[in-house]
Amino acid sequence: MTTIPKTAEIIAMAGKGGTGKTTMSALLIRYLLKRHLTPVLAVDADANANLNELLGIPVEVTMGDIRDRMKTETPQGMTKSDFMEMEFNKALIESEGFDLLVMGQPQGPGCYCMANSILAGLMERLSSSYRYMLVDNEAGMEHLSRFNLRKIGLLFVVSDASARGVTAARRIADLTKSLGVEVGKKVLIVNRAPDVIPEALNGHIQQSIAESDLIFGGYVHASPEIFAYETSQRSLLTLSDDVRAVQEAEAIFNKTL
Ligand SMILES: Nc1ncnc2c1ncn2[C@@H]1O[C@H](COP(=O)(O)OP(=O)(O)OP(=O)(O)O)[C@@H](O)[C@H]1O
Ligand SMILES: [Mg+2]
Repeated sequence: MTTIPKTAEIIAMAGKGGTGKTTMSALLIRYLLKRHLTPVLAVDADANANLNELLGIPVEVTMGDIRDRMKTETPQGMTKSDFMEMEFNKALIESEGFDLLVMGQPQGPGCYCMANSILAGLMERLSSSYRYMLVDNEAGMEHLSRFNLRKIGLLFVVSDASARGVTAARRIADLTKSLGVEVGKKVLIVNRAPDVIPEALNGHIQQSIAESDLIFGGYVHASPEIFAYETSQRSLLTLSDDVRAVQEAEAIFNKTL
């Protein structure tokens, strides 16, 4: 009898640049840890990686470094695939309840097709060891196809609190169709909302939801605490439960996860 391998539920963050994808990723990890919904694999898929900073974790080796080294440093008699697997473990940073993998970017010239396909295989195997795999992306969606993710259970699309931002979020959500990735649920988060939300913005969100397959997760207000933590480079994992933005993000995760 064959056993069906368990795999992690994949959650991905998408959205325009600077809307708060990495911040929401950190708050989601905080949420999953608090609820003991572990183990979690956090994947920083932004070439300009910074999720680790919001989690207070130093990074020494990225998968990009390893892809570079595979080309020139694979010892004789060892396959590139075995080399990648051996080095992969060095790039996986273990923490309490979650591990972090930073993709980085390869520096050298040339094609990384082989390295990327080995990597996709390793990721697939790795995912069976986790309950959730959270992928923090850079702006745009195209590179998601690099990981060969066939199914994303939950896609959060983060927007700023503007009509154009919401329209862009809707477009990003639509893009997943052309990537050939199956997405379970697409949830809009309108981040850094002002205290008083204009009625026109509410209306625009409702219309965008009605015309697309997005679900409205909710608003997360602009938070002085997040601002203070970011400027003093403190880990968002240590934010208090009393912080309004934390509670709002948790309410969204509660109703969508
Ligand atoms: N709710 C919030 N309240 C206050 N500041 C916030 C909030 N959300 C995000 N920020 C701040 O906005 C800036 C951008 O956030 P973040 O880095 O999470 O965006 P991003 O979408 O990941 O950006 P990029 O596209 O560059 O990866 C950061 O300085 C962050 O601290
Ligand atoms: Mg980011």
